[in-house]
Amino acid sequence: MTKRMTQSPILTVNQSSRRAARVAPFLAMDVMSAAAAREARGEGVVHMEVGQPSAPAPRAVIAAAQSALASGALPYTQALGLPSLRERIARHYAETYGVSVSPSRIVVTTGSSAGFVLAFLALFDAGARIAVPQPGYPAYRSLLNALDLIPAPLTLRDADRFAPTGAALRALHARAALSGLLVMSPANPSGTVIEPERLADLCATARELGLRFISDEIYHGLAYGMPTDTALRYDDEAIVINSFSKTWCMTGWRIGWMVVPDWLARPVERLAQNLYISAPYLSQVAALAAFDAVEEVEAVRAGYAANRALLLDAFPGLGLGRTHPADGAFYLYADVSNLTDDASAFCRRMLDEAGVAATPGLDFDAVDGGHHVRFSFAGSQADCVDAVRRLKGWLR
Ligand SMILES: Cc1ncc(COP(=O)(O)O)c(C=O)c1O
Repeated sequence: MTKRMTQSPILTVNQSSRRAARVAPFLAMDVMSAAAAREARGEGVVHMEVGQPSAPAPRAVIAAAQSALASGALPYTQALGLPSLRERIARHYAETYGVSVSPSRIVVTTGSSAGFVLAFLALFDAGARIAVPQPGYPAYRSLLNALDLIPAPLTLRDADRFAPTGAALRALHARAALSGLLVMSPANPSGTVIEPERLADLCATARELGLRFISDEIYHGLAYGMPTDTALRYDDEAIVINSFSKTWCMTGWRIGWMVVPDWLARPVERLAQNLYISAPYLSQVAALAAFDAVEEVEAVRAGYAANRALLLDAFPGLGLGRTHPADGAFYLYADVSNLTDDASAFCRRMLDEAGVAATPGLDFDAVDGGHHVRFSFAGSQADCVDAVRRLKGWLR
């Protein structure tokens, strides 16, 4: 018995699966840990590394959670979510976009992060190639890798304001056949909002090429002058992924949703039942109150707009180089090629010497990320003022 056990390759080799090994670390989270270590030593840090609102969830959300807690049991719900929340989310599409979506097409998820896993598993078989924007949110690439799918970088160009285009999609598909396309607007890290005509063209191109269209709309509601439109207006079959994390300041509540075509609801339901049973009841009940907190959400957005204006004004004088469009979301993605070829080392020094935590571009772009740094302006105005003061001293 003992002999057989010691001969087992599983017991003798301490090694993760190849798919787990393919998953890159999330550098923003690593910077967050380094910043926490600095704070534990009693040294100050301005946090601009993680895309997370510093404001709490709207008051009505917190009150709804408190009353649910006081009432006792916090049960599982149906895997697709509480019917009342699915209905409220469907109403949000009618009210915000004038687009009609049946509640039967809404899936409540544990943040948009679970929405990606569900979408990828429900739509694609192993080996399928999915176009993802580059620079782009790193978890797309990592999750696809983990699921034996192939992320195909769709390089975003300055000439297109860092928005994906139908022509670029066509060219990528011609090189090696794709099965799907994932876009985000407003984008992380560039902040680019895809204009309605371009979104319509992307949807039409994807449909013509027979590709599944996944639209990450998590930063909708956080734009500074440009309208954010849902892909559902241009393609009723689009898979839309969204979340309460950013616009409603609910990152830690782990609650989001998907809109799927009718035929996909049951496959997604089966996956959700087995992956996590249901999104947390408490967060679902609380999220029901979120859509009505219009004034609070607008006040937070106005704060971001002021932070954005402050940083856009200050950055050129700091010598930080050009920034991507920042039409929406809460990031400035700065070109630091005049200062370094190694954004990771640059960010380490910036944290150690100036106490400003920001994320190196390699998180978002394996090719040109070494020349970029992402600064989140989701904190307070005082944070942004402090960051500029620290950077001025450091980059002098
Ligand atoms: C573009 C984008 N999509 C999705 C997420 C994940 O958000 P959550 O899982 O909290 O909904 C993030 C988080 O930063 C993001 O930037």
